[in-house]
Amino acid sequence: MPGYHVDPLRLAGRPGVKHRRYPGELAAWVADMDFEPCPAVVDAIQQQLATGDLGYPDWKHYTGGSPAAAAFVERCARRYSWIIDEHDTREWCDVVQAVHTLLHVCTEPGDGVVLHTPSYPPLWKALEAMDRRLVGVPAMAHGDGWVFDYDELERRLGTEQRVRAILLCHPHNPTGHVFDAAELSRLAEIAARFDLLIISDEIHADLTYAPAQHTPMGAIAPDRTVSIHSASKSFSLAGLRYAVSHVGPQWVRDRISHLPDHLLGAVNLFGAVAAEAAWRHGDDWLAGVMGVLDGNRRALVDLLVQQLPGIRYRPPAATYLAWLDCAALGLGDDPSVEFHRRGVALSPGPDFGRGGEGFVRLNLATSPQRLGQIVGAMSGRSGAS
Ligand SMILES: Cc1ncc(COP(=O)(O)O)c(C=O)c1O
Repeated sequence: MPGYHVDPLRLAGRPGVKHRRYPGELAAWVADMDFEPCPAVVDAIQQQLATGDLGYPDWKHYTGGSPAAAAFVERCARRYSWIIDEHDTREWCDVVQAVHTLLHVCTEPGDGVVLHTPSYPPLWKALEAMDRRLVGVPAMAHGDGWVFDYDELERRLGTEQRVRAILLCHPHNPTGHVFDAAELSRLAEIAARFDLLIISDEIHADLTYAPAQHTPMGAIAPDRTVSIHSASKSFSLAGLRYAVSHVGPQWVRDRISHLPDHLLGAVNLFGAVAAEAAWRHGDDWLAGVMGVLDGNRRALVDLLVQQLPGIRYRPPAATYLAWLDCAALGLGDDPSVEFHRRGVALSPGPDFGRGGEGFVRLNLATSPQRLGQIVGAMSGRSGAS
């Protein structure tokens, strides 16, 4: 497919962690894409370079911080019919910094925080590192997707002391579950009843496959939600470091504003330039990428049936991450060890905390040809290139 061609030689020469960490293996682990970057983003970075000015940017006229925050606000209206005020946005160096900071200013050591499990590792690790109690809502396989027991959550919230927040990963990494409007309303109702802040990491929002739709949590519970976004997953810009949040509750905006001015640093010039370009001019590129990813998530069903029928796979409703249940293969809690031996680097299930045992996470953001090679190598029939 033009524009999304993946050249194996070029991948091998890439300096980033994905293709460097495990030399000689097919890399399908960390959440970076194998595609060349969006041309609009590359142009914007080149234009910035061409100015010859890499000094402090003059952004004082932008109420949200940089031009990227303004682009974010406009895009939320265009793409999600979610109308927000730029004054209520706050920029960050990255999404995980925002999560840590919000936990720091809005909760105390020993407080409980609700988290769907398994979970993107830095989220459950943030709770552990900051001495917050994880109140888990386990993912339960249901048909071709996942469900969560909110009646059980309510029962627990009725008995547990000092639960202060829900840390939502929406869409959910690693299952690819999309929380629909009804599920979000249920969560909002629970949050209102137990007076919980909702910290909603929506970094994968743009990677939702039709007919599923992303509904911003902030649109459902504006007065108790902080929604955090970034272009870094959907446009594969993780090295550039830029994130932005909409901070609904006034009390959270106040607490953030009381932090010492320079404690968190400032966003990177290129991160903001790239995010603005992606959000203003990258939708066609993203639509093309989504076509490739959608093909891959479907193709993986047949590839596994034919070559690794012991793996149970539920295609993600969002994200380019395939969460593979390898229990029936008898490879123990961490099947990634055996797949490394066969020449494929995958993310180990146990890294995702509770419920990750026996799973691996496979990154689908590559060419269909390479996905075929990855599954072939995983099955032990053919080695890495
Ligand atoms: C759910 C989720 N949140 C956050 C991140 C990382 O974001 P950042 O690099 O901006 O901290 C990732 C990366 O894969 C992710 O999957």
